[in-house]
Amino acid sequence: MKDTPKKLDELYAGKAKSVFKTEDADYLILEFRDDTSAFDGKQVEQLDRKGRVNNQFNAFIMTRLAEAGIETHFEKTLSATESLVKHMQMIPLECVVRNQAAGSLCRRLGVEEGADLVPPTFELFLKDDALGDPMVNESHAQTFGWASQEQISRMRELTFQVNEVLKQIFDAAGMMLVDYKLEFGVFKDRIVLGDEFSPDGCRLWDKETKEKLDKDRFRQGLGSVVESYEVVGHRLGIEFV
Ligand code: TMP
Ligand code: ASP
Repeated sequence: MKDTPKKLDELYAGKAKSVFKTEDADYLILEFRDDTSAFDGKQVEQLDRKGRVNNQFNAFIMTRLAEAGIETHFEKTLSATESLVKHMQMIPLECVVRNQAAGSLCRRLGVEEGADLVPPTFELFLKDDALGDPMVNESHAQTFGWASQEQISRMRELTFQVNEVLKQIFDAAGMMLVDYKLEFGVFKDRIVLGDEFSPDGCRLWDKETKEKLDKDRFRQGLGSVVESYEVVGHRLGIEFV
């Protein structure tokens, strides 16, 4: 792309990001807001600097993934809180990989928090707040037309590739990538990684102390939410502006 296409009307406002059309039908602009939500939108707060931290965190991670050969929708940051991305047809499924047990897995299966999961698990959730993002399977996805078997196989393969890349990056910076959620879309017939990768959609623990450095701080009322995201970023070498 030569020039940055001009920002046009808002297309959609999610819980934490707003999406704008651009002059070029193939590109959108994401604006990361300070809104922070959990429990399918039941707990919402504005956290100062969260938008800019997540925008720049996401840019760093998406760039590392692209360097590792994983195609993402990320093109470039446009400002502290905005990024230019490819305009994809989003698949309404969330792909979750878990390296250690936490969150809903512990609640559902009675597994102890922190237990190593070998091999890591792969789960699908339907992106639907009204239904509480229920866990679904591949059969549901085909029957209800959310994604084909081929698309799910590709999403699964890419989600595990992301695990190999990111586990190493976080490990080298003294953290454990406990679990994370990815969303994919279709761009010119290819399955491409979309949405964002930030501490809002993953669990990161300090390797030594097991301190939680992700959105569980918000969910569990532990405080220092954005400060912890910044600690993670600084350990990775991100200089936030
Ligand atoms: P869970 O333990 O609540 O199922 O979440 C697993 C991981 O996926 C955790 O890092 C949070 C992330 N996640 C989201 O960010 N949004 C979602 O809607 C879901 C289902 C999971
Ligand atoms: N389901 C996600 C969470 O609980 C996001 C949200 O519902 O707001 O973190």
